Amino acid sequence: MPNIYFDHASTTPLHPEVLSVMMDIYQGPPGNPSSTHSFGRTAKRHLTQARDRIAAVVGCHPSELMFTSGGTESDNTALRGTLNALRHTGKRHLITSSAEHHAVLHTSKRLEEEGYSITLLEPDGDGIISPEKVQNALREDTTMISLLYVNNEVGTIQPIAEIGAVAREAGVLFHVDGVQALGSIRLNLHELPVDLMSFTAHKINGPQGIGALYIAKSVPFQPQIVGGSQEGKRRAGTENTASATGFAKAVELSDEHFEEKNRHISLLRETFIHGLEAELGSSAFVINGHKERSVPHILNISLLGADTETLLMNLDMEGIAASSGSACTSGSLERSHVLKAMSLPPDRLNSAVRFSFGLGNTLKEIEYAVKKIATILNRIRSKV
Ligand SMILES: Cc1ncc(COP(=O)(O)O)c(C=O)c1O
Repeated sequence: MPNIYFDHASTTPLHPEVLSVMMDIYQGPPGNPSSTHSFGRTAKRHLTQARDRIAAVVGCHPSELMFTSGGTESDNTALRGTLNALRHTGKRHLITSSAEHHAVLHTSKRLEEEGYSITLLEPDGDGIISPEKVQNALREDTTMISLLYVNNEVGTIQPIAEIGAVAREAGVLFHVDGVQALGSIRLNLHELPVDLMSFTAHKINGPQGIGALYIAKSVPFQPQIVGGSQEGKRRAGTENTASATGFAKAVELSDEHFEEKNRHISLLRETFIHGLEAELGSSAFVINGHKERSVPHILNISLLGADTETLLMNLDMEGIAASSGSACTSGSLERSHVLKAMSLPPDRLNSAVRFSFGLGNTLKEIEYAVKKIATILNRIRSKV
C-alpha cells in the first residue's frame, strides 16, 4: 500500500539539506551564543547568520526578528507582548476574526477574561475579511488588529495590504499570522503595512519547535518570557542555534525554489480537481475557500453525502493522509470552526476534508488518490 502524505498544512517533512546543516551544528563543538569564549562566539555567529538570512528573504531588519518556539508562541506573544506594553494607554480593544488559528483565538479569549474587549469579525462564505468590515469595527480604544494572511484550513488569502492601510490610517497596530503564507507568498515586510508577523519553520520543510516573530522597530513590546537578555531582551532562554540555522536554510530553499515549487503544487491541485470532476462529476463536491484568492497547497473539499471522519478513516486505510482542518482539531469530532465561521451549510460542513500538498508529492499520487476517493465515496453513498 502506498504511503501518501497530503497534510502539509499540518507539518512538512524535514528537507535533507536542512537536516544536514542542523547535524553539522549538533555534531560540532558545544556553544551557548551568550558565552563570551570562542565556543560561544561560534554559536553566536551561527545564530546571527541565521537571523540575517531569514531577514534578507522576508524583507526586514534582522533585529526585527525574534526567534520563538513556533507559530503558536509567536501568535501568543504578538498579542500579549504589545497589548501589555500598551496597557497604560487604557485602550483595550482588539479586532480579530472567528476564522483565526486557535493560537490567536484562545489568546483573545484569555485576554477577554483579563479585561480586554474583543471584536470577532465574521468572514464571508469564501473566508475573506473585507477591509470595510475592519474599518467599521474600529473604535476609539482599538489598539490592535490581528488576522491570518492565509487561512490554514481553506487557504484563502486575506487582503492584508488593504487591511493594513486601514490600520495605518487609524493608528492601530496590525499583527498578521503569516505561518501559511511563508513559502507560498513572496514577502517584503518593510513594504507591507504590517507591524508584527508570525512564522514557523515546520510548514516549509524546516524543523518543528522553532519560529519567529517579526516586530517592527517602532512597535512597543513587553517580553513575555523573562530571564536572560537573549533575543534583544525580548525573549529569555538559550537560543536553539541548530534549529535557527535549519530554519534559515528552509527559508532560503523555499525562496530559491519558489516558482518551481508553486508551479508544481498548482499542477497537483488542478490535476486533483479535474480528476475528481472526471470521476465523480462536478456536482459531487464543492471547494471551500476563495476560488482565486487562495494558496495552491491547501485544498479544502466537501465530498457531499459523506461524513468527514468516515472519509478520513477510509483514506487512511488506503494509505492517504489528509485532515479535517487544523492540526489542533484533527482526530476530534469537532466540526471546523473556520468552516462554521464561513456559515457553510451542514452538508458542506460535515463532509469537508483538507488535502494539503508539498515537496515530494507526485502526479502519480494524485491519480491514485482520485481513484480511491471515487471508490470510497461511491461505497459510502451506496450505504446511505
Ligand atoms: C496559521 C497557523 N498559525 C499558527 C500555527 C501554529 O504553529 P506551530 O505549530 O508552529 O505552533 C499553525 C499551525 O498549524 C498555523 O497553521
